Amino acid sequence: MARLDDKVAIVTGSGSGIGAAIAKRFAKEGAKVVLADVSEKGITQVKEEIEQAGGTAEYIVGDISKEENAKNINDFAVEKFGKLDILVNNAGYAGPSDPAEQFNSEEFDKIFKVNAYGTFYMVKHAVPLLRENKGGSIINVASNSILTPTDYPGYAGSKGAVRTMSFTFSGILAKDKIRVNTLIPGTTRTPMVKAIFDDPELAKKYIETIPLGEVVEPEDLANGALYLASDEAGRVTGTELVVDAGMSL
Ligand SMILES: NC(=O)c1ccc[n+]([C@@H]2O[C@H](COP(=O)([O-])OP(=O)(O)OC[C@H]3O[C@@H](n4cnc5c(N)ncnc54)[C@H](O)[C@@H]3O)[C@@H](O)[C@H]2O)c1
Repeated sequence: MARLDDKVAIVTGSGSGIGAAIAKRFAKEGAKVVLADVSEKGITQVKEEIEQAGGTAEYIVGDISKEENAKNINDFAVEKFGKLDILVNNAGYAGPSDPAEQFNSEEFDKIFKVNAYGTFYMVKHAVPLLRENKGGSIINVASNSILTPTDYPGYAGSKGAVRTMSFTFSGILAKDKIRVNTLIPGTTRTPMVKAIFDDPELAKKYIETIPLGEVVEPEDLANGALYLASDEAGRVTGTELVVDAGMSL
């Protein structure tokens, strides 16, 4: 018996990086996975990889910062696979790194729209389906930018909102057996932080600052998400799992 046998999972932002790793890991553990992303390119490839490995996945293109798309993604899971057990709100947008006094306000808006509103819209439309399913697991991906000061006011602020919403939802939804937890990555080797790891000098300096001396890989987050999604975490809600090789210590 695999750890997610018979489960149906949505993973947003699964065309790249952490989301792609989570989707592949979930499928390997028996879940039927809905790949959702604003870009079609990555999710078609991830679907192919999952199927080649013997797993099951369908994909849907949609920008989660628009409520109708969030509803469509949730409905699509039930249309294709008959129910919803797991929602991973992983899609995210970092925007530029600038101090507050120089920060572009349109960018600030966009960051909040994707990270905070997108998470809210996805949860809003998943809850009725998870209730119908008599329970489930929601995993919201934040960032360790909420644990250490950075020049990403929009990003850190929006991820702080994600963390607070997770906590609030977990208390409200516990009576419906819907668990809500936050996964907090540190800097992880994905296209989002490509600039750091493409430059060997910068990468070396960066790695020297990591307490465990190793870069976090997308698969490390997939392991954490797998635990929180699985029945092994059946009595775990309202908590946070930091996967950052000690960066926020
Ligand atoms: N990589 C890191 O160092 C790091 C650190 C902390 C937190 N995170 C968080 O982890 C999550 C995944 O990041 P990643 O590094 O894998 O990024 P990534 O850029 O590799 O992948 C993000 C994916 O989300 C999709 N996406 C973006 N906006 C979307 C939208 N509006 N609707 C639907 N899909 C959308 C993108 O198309 C992309 O496929 C994000 O929430 C990010 O904020 C990443």
